[in-house]
Amino acid sequence: MSVAALVLAAGRGERLRRSLASTGGAENDLPPKAFLPVAGRTLLVRSLLRMAEAEEIDQLVPVVPEAWLARFEAAVAELGPVRGLRPAVAGGAERQDSVAAGLEALSGEVSHVVVHDAARPLVPAEDVRRVVRVALECGAALLATPVTDTIHQIDGDRLRETPARAGLRAALTPQVFRVDWLREALAKARADAVHGTDDAALVARLGVEVRVVEGDPINRKITTAADLAWAEAVLQGEPS
Ligand code: C5P
Repeated sequence: MSVAALVLAAGRGERLRRSLASTGGAENDLPPKAFLPVAGRTLLVRSLLRMAEAEEIDQLVPVVPEAWLARFEAAVAELGPVRGLRPAVAGGAERQDSVAAGLEALSGEVSHVVVHDAARPLVPAEDVRRVVRVALECGAALLATPVTDTIHQIDGDRLRETPARAGLRAALTPQVFRVDWLREALAKARADAVHGTDDAALVARLGVEVRVVEGDPINRKITTAADLAWAEAVLQGEPS
């Protein structure tokens, strides 16, 4: 078994860029979301370092915007050696394109692929290990948390249905899959013109079982300026 991790950082992070621009910065001067620093290190570098702590992972492939490849390699060179880190690859227009680009770049025999959002820099290494171990046993697994809000299905401005909260989970990353299942899921999504926001949902469309592993809610996705300030506060309280 050989496990590769794709750390996805090729999105622009429009919501975060807009919310930062509204608090003073010029939107076009801001880097893509994963390249914003939090407590002195970018979201991407923080995510890579957390993934590198999981011994189950053999290679780490960052997926970044094409225009940021050179700057990323220069920044990483300053970090010193990171276990398993491979050269970054350019992502695509949509998240699924970025996953596909990362899969193309894998080297050697890979049995399982870990997909992680660089926008989740606080993922505990222990959660990474747990979800990888479950996927090595059953083929597909993701981290998720119980939801604390009631979730309504809506139709325009009308409430349609309210699924029981106990049966709902919010998807996190990492999500881990047999490499052949992930490749097949992406091909099927392309053929069916499905654009998922989550790889586990695409893999589940194959009819295979996907295991849900409870993750730590600290593994939040940084989406707004308030999330960035929250992550900064959490990290200031930790030795870096
Ligand atoms: O936009 P959102 O925050 O949901 O993106 C989740 C992750 O997917 C981010 O880390 C982002 O950089 C990545 N992504 C990507 N390529 C895209 C879109 C998103 O790598 N085209």
